[in-house]
Amino acid sequence: MKPWRERCVNGGDTGRGLAPGAPARQHGAMEVLIQNDAESGCVLGAKVIARQVRDKPDAVLGLATGRTPLRLYQELIRLHRDEGLDFSRVTTFNLDEYVGLPATHDQSYRWFMREHLFRHINIDPRRTHVPDGTAADLHAECRDYERRIADAGGIDLQLLGLGRNGHIGFNEPTGSLRSRTWIKILSEQTLRDNSGVFGDFAAMPRHAITMGIGTILDARRVLLLAFGPTKVRAVVDMVEGPLAAVCPASALQLHPRATVVLDEASAAALRFLDHYRWIDRHKLDWQKHG
Ligand code: GLP
Repeated sequence: MKPWRERCVNGGDTGRGLAPGAPARQHGAMEVLIQNDAESGCVLGAKVIARQVRDKPDAVLGLATGRTPLRLYQELIRLHRDEGLDFSRVTTFNLDEYVGLPATHDQSYRWFMREHLFRHINIDPRRTHVPDGTAADLHAECRDYERRIADAGGIDLQLLGLGRNGHIGFNEPTGSLRSRTWIKILSEQTLRDNSGVFGDFAAMPRHAITMGIGTILDARRVLLLAFGPTKVRAVVDMVEGPLAAVCPASALQLHPRATVVLDEASAAALRFLDHYRWIDRHKLDWQKHG
């Protein structure tokens, strides 16, 4: 018989992705962690990723772009520099890429990852994967991306941000909740939201390659960060709204091990806010954060 702590976690352990003898950390519900601010949320997120890499040095990480994870990446860089966090055997797969932007374009997500993470840590560039938005056959690139993820053994931990309209990756509202890596037309709101970073709305690509919702749900663990008042509506729809394609992030309600890190501002409208805080306060040591 398994030891008590492995039997009693919110309905039990499927064993998926757990090293022999490791404590079961499967959640029976979305884990909602509310931090004071984005700074502490990003430090917590980095801690979760660092633990994954320490537990499994050849971990496969799914990575995200956007403003939200920037501070988390800085913290991973610090952990590498000051505490020897070793990425030499880690493999990464990014969520998405703009169609038509080469890796040399300073608004491509390949460029973003190199600038904000990869060149500061000891990761082997050959183990870093970002969809190729310039591929001659984009459909073949989508299929190949899925194959590369499968060949790597699947994603251990997928990091996500949250679009203001509830998108994850570039999966815009009303897309299939079972989609695989595909080509999406970006919504006007997403283009406007991202144009602050891109610089020029008119020059932004209207299409992107993105992992599908089905691809994201296949990850053994999901870690989503959402901060600030602009995300408040999407957070309610994701955590407490009905499971619906109008909020792609609501699909995470189906995931057996999804952790959502919020700040006070993004969590403000949650109906069960006190309940999430209560749950967090009453966790046993081995259930805490990761
Ligand atoms: C883009 C990315 C998403 C990201 C979202 C939110 O659309 N494709 O992966 O989560 O923006 O961006 P931000 O973190 O800048 O709010």
